[in-house]
Amino acid sequence: MSKIAVVGCTGAVGITMLELLENTEHEVVCMASARSADQILRLGQREYEIEEFSVAGCADCDIVFLCVSGQFSSKFGPTLAKFSTVIDNSSAFRYHDEIPLLVPPINGSSYRGESLIANPNCSSAIALMVLGPLHAEFGLDSLIISTYQAASGAGRPAMAELLEQTRLFDDYGTDNTSVNFPHNLAFNVIPQVDSFEDNLYTREEMKMVWEIRKVLRQPELAISATAVRVPSLRSHAESLCIRFKKRLPSLESIRKLLRESPGVEVIDDPKQQRYPMPVTSSYKHAVEVGRLRYNLIYGEFGLDLFVSGDQLLRGAALNAFEIMQLVTD
Ligand SMILES: NC(=O)c1ccc[n+]([C@@H]2O[C@H](COP(=O)([O-])OP(=O)(O)OC[C@H]3O[C@@H](n4cnc5c(N)ncnc54)[C@H](OP(=O)(O)O)[C@@H]3O)[C@@H](O)[C@H]2O)c1
Repeated sequence: MSKIAVVGCTGAVGITMLELLENTEHEVVCMASARSADQILRLGQREYEIEEFSVAGCADCDIVFLCVSGQFSSKFGPTLAKFSTVIDNSSAFRYHDEIPLLVPPINGSSYRGESLIANPNCSSAIALMVLGPLHAEFGLDSLIISTYQAASGAGRPAMAELLEQTRLFDDYGTDNTSVNFPHNLAFNVIPQVDSFEDNLYTREEMKMVWEIRKVLRQPELAISATAVRVPSLRSHAESLCIRFKKRLPSLESIRKLLRESPGVEVIDDPKQQRYPMPVTSSYKHAVEVGRLRYNLIYGEFGLDLFVSGDQLLRGAALNAFEIMQLVTD
């Protein structure tokens, strides 16, 4: 049994973290900001008293999950890592060469006992569950990703905003009342997730590029991404257009490979209208993959497919939980 701190326990990722810890033997300490201190958090059969975050409060914990902001993690992560193993959900350390960025089923074997570990971006983690096994078998040559990202990717207040705007929706107007997105999200599609970089890609798009290269250890891999926010509540979807170095075998043997890959569920029966969707992948541990077809441009060297995965699970809390299992094994 370990003692575990969940910092940011009232947020979208923190709550999902607590749900995963609920049926374990671990002792859990819940921390958030002063705003939430001393409140009671009820989840399933458990009640937690929320503590205000402090370094001292985390110091006797074996594992500290940071589920706050990048700024917060940059400030406290290295200090906390002197006492505990810190698993950070923000992007603060993902691109530091000396800090491991782990998706356990894909690159868990590269872990060397470091006490500060980065959890990947949600869209990267979901894509990697499928890209990992395909790369191992056929060698990735290039990749084009388009995402359809749920409101909860922007945190709990963003989910509440989408629900409220949807309830009140009457017609499109010119007023932008959004606090959590660049524009109103209800009945809209927004081709901006995070801020724009100098190269006109968004930070979210570049996170996918940097993280997929790092996890697959392919620093030169050609990747281009477009990240789009859509008015779903939970679970991101992504279209992947992949060119491989090797000629691909039959689609059925690719489905078999993916079926046998950990954390992947193949849902690919288009004639029966069965394919991955947020409605079916929400709350699921596995990432759904389907719509497999040879790409019309790259022929048998190219594959188009569609994935959908619960980004609060695979893209955040579940991945972090699996990192904890790797560390404590
Ligand atoms: N949402 C996703 O799908 C997702 C996926 C992967 C990674 N991430 C990353 O995970 C992190 C958390 O995201 P989220 O979506 O869960 O955000 P969120 O729903 O907005 O929750 C933020 C949490 O941080 C806490 N917090 C804020 N300031 C704090 C402080 N000074 N001290 C202690 N706690 C503080 C908040 O506590 P109070 O309630 O007390 O304010 C709340 O518990 C972010 O870095 C995000 O980029 C999110």
